[in-house]
Amino acid sequence: MTRSDLLAGKTHAVFDAYGTLFDVHSAVARHAGAIGPKAQAFSEMWRTKQLEYSWVIGLMGRYEAFWTLTERALDFALAKHPDVNPTLRETLLDAYRDLDAYAEVPGVLARLREAGLQTAVFSNGDATMLARAVASAGLAERLDAVLSVDPVRTFKTAPAAYRLVLDRLGAAREGVLFFSSNRWDIAGAAAFGFDAVWVNRTDHPDEYPDLTPRLVVKSLDTLV
Ligand code: LAC
Repeated sequence: MTRSDLLAGKTHAVFDAYGTLFDVHSAVARHAGAIGPKAQAFSEMWRTKQLEYSWVIGLMGRYEAFWTLTERALDFALAKHPDVNPTLRETLLDAYRDLDAYAEVPGVLARLREAGLQTAVFSNGDATMLARAVASAGLAERLDAVLSVDPVRTFKTAPAAYRLVLDRLGAAREGVLFFSSNRWDIAGAAAFGFDAVWVNRTDHPDEYPDLTPRLVVKSLDTLV
C-alpha cells in the first residue's frame, strides 16, 4: 500500500491517545530506579487494570472518569507489588499526567495536515487528563480537536463512543483514518466502520481476526 492509497478520500486522521500518541510506560520509566527491578511488570499491571476497569464498568452501562480508573489501577498495582514504595503514588500520578509523546508524533501530525487532513485525538481519557497530556507534550498546535468519550459517558469499544468522532468532527465515516496501538481499539473502530491503522509497537500477535485493520505498522511514521 502506498501513502496516497492510505490517505485517498480521507479528511480526518484520528488518534487514540494512550499507547498511540503517549507512552503509558514513560511514567514508571522515569522512576524505575525508585521502583526497582519489577518496574516494567508494575507498569504493565497498572495499564492492564486501567483498561480492564473501563471494560468492566462500561459493560455494566456505568461510567467513571478515566483518571479515576487510572488512580484505582495504580492502587491495585501498588497493592500487588508491596516491594514498590507506596509513597511514590502521587509522583507516579504526576508523571502519568505528563506522559512522553512518541518521538515521531509531531512530524506525523504536521505531515498529515500538509496533506490536507484534519488531526484529532479520540480517547477514553477524560477531558482534563487529555488537555494536560496534549499541553505537556507540546502537541496542542498540531491538533484540530481533542475528543474525550466523556460526553457520551461510555468507553471504547462501544459504537456510541466512535460515533462521537463523526458528530464532533462533522466527518463522514469513510473519511476517517483511525490510528491506535491497542488491537482491541482497532477491532472496535473496524466494527464501527473506520479504516484503522494498527500501530503494533511491541510486535503483539494479532487478535480479533474478523475485525481487521487496513494496515499494520510498527511506528506512526511508517507511511505518513
Ligand atoms: C485511550 C486509551 C484506551 O487513549 O488508549 O483511549
